[in-house]
Amino acid sequence: MKILIKNTDLLTMADEDQILHNVNISIDSGRITHIGDIPNDFTPEKIIDGREKLVMPGLVNSHTHIAMSVFRNYADDLSFWPWLTEKILPLEEKLIAQDIYWGSMLSIVEMLKSGITSFADMYFLMDETAKAVSQSGIRASLTRGLAGNESEGQSKIEEAIEFYKKWHGTDNGRIAVDAGPHAPYTCSSAYINMIIEMAKKYNMRIHIHLSESKKEVENSYEKYNKSPIAHVNDLGLFELPTMAAHCVYLSNEDIDILADKRVHVLNNPASNLKLGNGFAPINKLLKNGVNVALGTDGASSNNSQNMFKEISLAGLINKGINNDSTCVKAITALKMATINGAKALGLDDSIGTIEVGKKADIILIDMKKAHLYPKHNPVSAMVYSAQGSDVDTVIIDGKVVMESREIKTIDIEEVMYNVEKHAKELIKR
Ligand code: NI
Repeated sequence: MKILIKNTDLLTMADEDQILHNVNISIDSGRITHIGDIPNDFTPEKIIDGREKLVMPGLVNSHTHIAMSVFRNYADDLSFWPWLTEKILPLEEKLIAQDIYWGSMLSIVEMLKSGITSFADMYFLMDETAKAVSQSGIRASLTRGLAGNESEGQSKIEEAIEFYKKWHGTDNGRIAVDAGPHAPYTCSSAYINMIIEMAKKYNMRIHIHLSESKKEVENSYEKYNKSPIAHVNDLGLFELPTMAAHCVYLSNEDIDILADKRVHVLNNPASNLKLGNGFAPINKLLKNGVNVALGTDGASSNNSQNMFKEISLAGLINKGINNDSTCVKAITALKMATINGAKALGLDDSIGTIEVGKKADIILIDMKKAHLYPKHNPVSAMVYSAQGSDVDTVIIDGKVVMESREIKTIDIEEVMYNVEKHAKELIKR
């Protein structure tokens, strides 16, 4: 489809905090074809009025478990281990396909409504999540979460390979399938080795949780006499492109490993705070050249799927914990949510900035809002003042998925009705 966005302000994210004013953007066959002067022979099938709007790259939610929205506001104000082992894991045992499908749809609604155009997910019964991604039009890197040991884990690896064969590269490449060893504390070393072999064979990226809680790190030293990061590095995990969620408790040696192996760190400020896990040393990671992306984590530890909250937290908390208001500037926080996320997912050649030739994953922010006035600095506005509900229009892979806040691909009433029904049944099950 040929789309023309007219007379808009544009934050490209390609060249620091460059803002272009009153420009036109043309989109053809899913890609950005021109910015500025549009050739006379371009005949748009759709024209979007960009006045009073800010165009910027769609946000990348680099770490989540979208089906967990069925647990939203179910288990709160608990510390990490009781939350996980006493509340979440027993209910996860009871999840059925329908719960995963409707939970995924609910999160996708929330993500689209707050400007997320791609996300990286790890969970199970992933066919249901893939179906929701396919139907909704969002972009995703999906992994079948893998936990266990070499004997009991084989069937899950076979499932992950089947899932890869069925979905990887489908929907014009909108869906990618990667490898998801859950964490070193839930996978034996031999099992991680088996997952590495699978990932090498199918050219998958790795998506894993690392050093999320203090207890996890202490247990790792007791069991392996090294940190979770040194442990998986010694197993050879980082020979594959790796997305590592959390990385809250890091030694200087850990940071050196992450930088040296070009591991992408996925920072989840709200989840780490809510579960009392602390806050990752983001400023130090960035200074050491580590690519840091942002994620929401699942809706049961957040409790939303709104990246504007994470962007704001990343901008504020790093200043607070470092007693330094100059660190993690607004533009850095915004990069974490866009181009750095694209790098983490291995998609920076195609998304993450607004440039000619890139895929059209674009959001339009409604700037005619009292809380965004006066218009001194749009970057600061996006980080310190904007809300998810300021997102007006969402374009993914060159298709208009949301316009004037109306999602074209999903019946939201149906989603809310089914989520409520299935969540209640799940608790009773
Ligand atoms: Ni997680």
